[in-house]
Amino acid sequence: MQRRDFLLSTLGLATAGVVPVLPARAERGLRILILGGTRFLGPHMAEYARARGHTLTFFNRGKTNADVLPDIERIQGDRNGQLGGLAGRKWDAVIDNSGYVPRHVRLSAELLRPSVPHYLFVSSVSVYASFASANDEDSAVGRLADESVERVDGETYGPLKALCESAARAVYGPESTAIIRPGLIVGPDDNTDRFTYWPARAARGGVFVAPGSPDDPIQVIDARDLAAFAISLLERRTAGVFNVLSPPGTFSMGDVVDESVKAARQLVDPQPPPVATWIPADFLAARAVAPWSDMPVWIPSVGDEAGFAQVSAARAMQAGLTIRPLADTVTDTLRWHLQRPEAERQKLKAGLSPEREAEVLTAWKDSRPQPQVEP
Ligand SMILES: NC(=O)c1ccc[n+]([C@@H]2O[C@H](COP(=O)([O-])OP(=O)(O)OC[C@H]3O[C@@H](n4cnc5c(N)ncnc54)[C@H](OP(=O)(O)O)[C@@H]3O)[C@@H](O)[C@H]2O)c1
Repeated sequence: MQRRDFLLSTLGLATAGVVPVLPARAERGLRILILGGTRFLGPHMAEYARARGHTLTFFNRGKTNADVLPDIERIQGDRNGQLGGLAGRKWDAVIDNSGYVPRHVRLSAELLRPSVPHYLFVSSVSVYASFASANDEDSAVGRLADESVERVDGETYGPLKALCESAARAVYGPESTAIIRPGLIVGPDDNTDRFTYWPARAARGGVFVAPGSPDDPIQVIDARDLAAFAISLLERRTAGVFNVLSPPGTFSMGDVVDESVKAARQLVDPQPPPVATWIPADFLAARAVAPWSDMPVWIPSVGDEAGFAQVSAARAMQAGLTIRPLADTVTDTLRWHLQRPEAERQKLKAGLSPEREAEVLTAWKDSRPQPQVEP
């Protein structure tokens, strides 16, 4: 019996195939290929993996953030059939960060299967067919009426990710495929501005719209926690499907807003100071303020979305996922945001514009009982 198996069996965990405490350092450096690697999650994975003694290669078209982590090996190509640069090479594991179309996943998996023993596919919780109730990894996934569709949009993204998972598993077999399904990935370098909107908005100071109720649940995953979990799966050659996000009930919208205000006061000290005005979901809906896009991170837990913030993370937690305090994520995100180019800071890709926010705040104020003025 190997030392690791002995330790696991004494902990009673061998049969569950989980390791709750990661080794301080990988036993030996792995050679890891990342399909993608240069946008948001990839650099966090690469930095974490490198710090643990692994060697990285990025495969991409050379279009996105071509200058990031320049000392990491690059192979140029395209998932859409131009994979020649990968032929004849060996790696210990591949992380597929850029699979959105099942044909692309099948092409890379087939090419790599003989020379790379472990395939980790980065999927999404968007695979689930319904969010009307809580999902775990065994919940039904969404299906496309026409499975040959390769157009990736809001309708097809989730079901296509489910087909990508199947494509990887069909080639590698379930014993050599790890599927991770992240929720909203947040933290420094996020190219979507969704979570970033909140600390950025607080840093502008003044009264701002906060959606629904401070108790409304949310789920997120810091890219750095996700990176550490993914690399730990490779180090342990773990297969299986894992939702990767903060467990239900860990964080609320109130936490996001409060921590954003605290971080803004600490790093910027804006004047006037930031003050959240909580506006109920129905008032926002009546003024076409959309959850998620206008009020990022937040979806009211009702109707078809009642289970949106109730996705089980139990399996990943048991397998060693750690969730850092939200204050750390918020503060680091704001610190990163503050040093972005002016143009990026001025025009965030998510959240209410200052003009719309002012309209909503005025409408909300006008709808409230006015204080009686003594004659
Ligand atoms: N953001 C979220 O909240 C969220 C939530 C759940 C799941 N996810 C998943 O997380 C994953 C990570 O995304 P990321 O963008 O941060 O990963 P990343 O690995 O940092 O960047 C994506 C990479 O893919 C490359 N790429 C794109 N199209 C390509 C093509 N046709 N051929 C070769 N390379 C290509 C890009 O470079 P080039 O453009 O230079 O080729 C880039 O290097 C995605 O699978 C996403 O679905 C994200």
